[in-house]
Amino acid sequence: MAAARSNAHGQRPDAAPPLQDAGLPCRRGGGGRGSRTTAAARQRRCADFLCRRRRDLALYRNAIGDECLYIHGGTARVETVFGDLDVWEGDYVIIPRATTHRIVPTGDAPVRIYAIEVNSHITPPKRYLSRYGQFLEHAPFCERDLRVPTDPYVVDERNVEVYIKHRGAGVNGISGTIHVQPHHPFDVVGWDGCLWPYAFNISDYEPLTGRVHQPPPTHQVFEAHNVIFCNFVPRKVDYHPLAIPVPYYHSNVDSDEVMFYAAGDYEARRGSGIAAGSISLHPMGHAHGPQPGAYERSIGMETFDETAVMVDTFAPLLLGEGAFATEDPAYMLSWNEN
Ligand SMILES: [Fe+2]
Repeated sequence: MAAARSNAHGQRPDAAPPLQDAGLPCRRGGGGRGSRTTAAARQRRCADFLCRRRRDLALYRNAIGDECLYIHGGTARVETVFGDLDVWEGDYVIIPRATTHRIVPTGDAPVRIYAIEVNSHITPPKRYLSRYGQFLEHAPFCERDLRVPTDPYVVDERNVEVYIKHRGAGVNGISGTIHVQPHHPFDVVGWDGCLWPYAFNISDYEPLTGRVHQPPPTHQVFEAHNVIFCNFVPRKVDYHPLAIPVPYYHSNVDSDEVMFYAAGDYEARRGSGIAAGSISLHPMGHAHGPQPGAYERSIGMETFDETAVMVDTFAPLLLGEGAFATEDPAYMLSWNEN
């Protein structure tokens, strides 16, 4: 098990800049895997990885799969070939595969993004949709909650660079190419069809609650090939008189579990060092659950004020350099009784 304090990106193409890290220039922290650091140093490294210098707002296209960008902080305008999307804290921004876009900060605060890349499309769970594709009445969100581009964002420039991530001979079969397009890719007259980017704010997700503990699929928000996305939002918790609101110990037999702690207090994680901005990874087969004392503290609680985004992958994950550089080696010891 591991916990880190940065956003973890997948493999990047050699040529493509980390556009999701659009933000303020910052320092890179030291300390490699297994190094011991103070909480302050870890916090600084978190800021480092969340605020890498952007490369002049280049246009970018991920030709491998959709991206889900969770806006952890700041405000931005996502410029796409379909038009603009203004986004802010708590937004999921779904960027379909091969959508040329860039992220332009619109405020003084750094834009912090938890970026999730998949190798397929990202959609709402099938069980929330009718066979015609409309949200059903029991879905925790619906069409009214989605924000889409309204008009093309037309730009007339020449010889425009577009950084493209695609399959190829690079690491893990991923490569990058820079296309120089004679006309700006946003020089369009409009768009038509059934594919477009959209934003959905996590505060518009209506949590489903119950008398006893509701398992994670209850909190699902999206799905993709071999991946499900769940979110835990402020909610009323289990109201059976004998209920213990924090999760039961469990072992994910079929999936790796990645949790991004976005805001609030994490009752089950108290004492683990995890706070807003942390990421934890619980690989398949590893039993895990609340830290010591959490069960007792949760008895009688009526609400949880927590916001977290969870991704369960049904294929093993590999760790990238960001994960190794920010790993908290003491995390696995946080279950020890003091
Ligand atoms: Fe879990």
